[in-house]
Amino acid sequence: MALKRIAPSVLAADFANLQRDVEMINQSDADWFHIDIMDGVFVPNISFGMPVLRDIVKHANKTIDVHLMIVDPDRYIKTFADLGSNILTVHYEACTHLHRTLQAIKAEGMKAGVAINPHTNVSLLEDVIKDIDLVCIMSVNPGFGGQSFIENTYKKVQQLRDIISRNNASTLIEIDGGVTSKNAKQLVEAGADVLVAGSFVFKSDNPTQTIKELKEIVNE
Ligand code: DX5
Ligand code: ZN
Repeated sequence: MALKRIAPSVLAADFANLQRDVEMINQSDADWFHIDIMDGVFVPNISFGMPVLRDIVKHANKTIDVHLMIVDPDRYIKTFADLGSNILTVHYEACTHLHRTLQAIKAEGMKAGVAINPHTNVSLLEDVIKDIDLVCIMSVNPGFGGQSFIENTYKKVQQLRDIISRNNASTLIEIDGGVTSKNAKQLVEAGADVLVAGSFVFKSDNPTQTIKELKEIVNE
């Protein structure tokens, strides 16, 4: 069984101590940096943009997993590639020509991800699953950190796992929103490969230790 991954969400970091928090992730058992880009249109919040990502990339020594919560993501594919993104995830609900968008992301040398909102059924991805490197199942409504986990997510993970196996695809399943040590094990048992964790990591007394514990829970 491949090692399960933990991706701390930088959205929950202290932006006035960003380098410190990036170094914490570098030194920890975390696998990826999860970077949330919000435009205030696709979601009712604005996070941070290119200059901040550029400075994160300068210090980060792990995979850069960028989650675009923006309308018309095609406009920025090249920009995010040039900034150093390794995985670029767009929202299913924001793409009229998803297949074309996925090809454009790969043409820029990045892995292509698709995020789905809690109301979006995983079956809608069946016809493109072989073209998707990662599906990000939103386990909260996107836009804010610190929300509570939607229980229906387990069922979606199982259904997606089934679609991936039936199509002989190698797509990774990522879960984003409200992840804690309480739901981590059940999520990987349902078939998840990558867990994003923001508040649970950064609001804890010892983020490095919290990442270590999460990593152990999902791989035990
Ligand atoms: C929500 C973002 C998440 C968020 C997760 O819109 O996509 O990545 O940072 O934060 P927590 O783990 O606090 O729910
Ligand atoms: Zn995210």
